[in-house]
Amino acid sequence: MSERPYVIDEMISAKAIAARIEELSNAIQEEFRDTNKLVVVGLLRGSFVFIADLVRELDLPVEVDFLEASSYGDSMESSREVRILKDLRGQIEGRDVLVVEDIVDTGHTLKHVVGLLESRDPARLRTIALLDKPLRRETDVAANWIGFSIPDEFVVGYGIDYAQRNRNLPFIGKVRFPEV
Ligand code: IMP
Repeated sequence: MSERPYVIDEMISAKAIAARIEELSNAIQEEFRDTNKLVVVGLLRGSFVFIADLVRELDLPVEVDFLEASSYGDSMESSREVRILKDLRGQIEGRDVLVVEDIVDTGHTLKHVVGLLESRDPARLRTIALLDKPLRRETDVAANWIGFSIPDEFVVGYGIDYAQRNRNLPFIGKVRFPEV
């Protein structure tokens, strides 16, 4: 945990997130309405709140699985080297897969995960991210659906942490270090 004091300024309200998830779920339902073999894959740990709200808006037969990839550790910088810390429990060959990410930042995590899952021959693979920071992109990856495009700010809340804290905030907030 950082010793440096910081404050959190609200950026996206809980209400705005809920409204956007309703819109996104309609688009996802449209895409997957012909299937009964959808697996929704949450990338731990940051997507756990988003995936919980998203799947409850989906009126489709879905299974849920999780995958954990290493990213920031406790720092504010991406490690760029992606490692799989926890793999899926189920098989995805021939299945329809929706990967749920909290934030696409440099894009290394999503690119790596998509490459890995594509190698397992799913019937169809789509991706959704709650937040997108296009200014930070270092790869050519893009999610199929994005909740909100945000500036290059470090954010927390709604499942997203800074040094493992603040995941329980109901809104997305920007971390700010006041001048001392
Ligand atoms: P990427 O590989 O650089 O795209 O990083 C993706 C992961 O980094 C996300 O899934 C988050 O876990 C983490 N991350 C990126 N930006 C932030 C942020 O602003 N706050 C907290 N975690 C972040």
